[in-house]
Amino acid sequence: MKILVIHGPNLNLLGMREPDVYGCTTLDEINQQISELSKELGLEAETFQSNSEGAIVDAIQNKTYNLLIINPAAYTHTSIAIRDAISAVGRPAIEVHVSNIHRREDFRRTSYIAGVATGQISGLGVEGYLLAVRASLKILKG
Ligand code: DQA
Repeated sequence: MKILVIHGPNLNLLGMREPDVYGCTTLDEINQQISELSKELGLEAETFQSNSEGAIVDAIQNKTYNLLIINPAAYTHTSIAIRDAISAVGRPAIEVHVSNIHRREDFRRTSYIAGVATGQISGLGVEGYLLAVRASLKILKG
């Protein structure tokens, strides 16, 4: 069973970017934790980051995986294209946000992704990704 973890725009800057909001852990460290936990649970994991909406749509369409974990970052609030790609491939998807998007600016409260996601984890920091990996196992095992 393989999970694909997609990180959207500006998440390559985690660790340096607004640490009061997003914490001090870098994307490499997050990916390392995802990879270690996945291995422990017997899952294969691939991670992918892009600042480009089209590249994210291409990854959702073309990569091989059974379940998607995605932090679409700012595209959460704007991208019908990413929503449609998730819907089109028809595989389970877990939406993750490091910060709690529901208690920030009004524009962050709308997620175009939530309506096609199996579930959403928001506001639990880096732990959110690891909870999503654990949830993946349950979802995939049925
Ligand atoms: C984010 C929340 C988004 O609103 C924001 O644009 C991000 C990161 C999060 O992980 O908390 O870039 O997805």
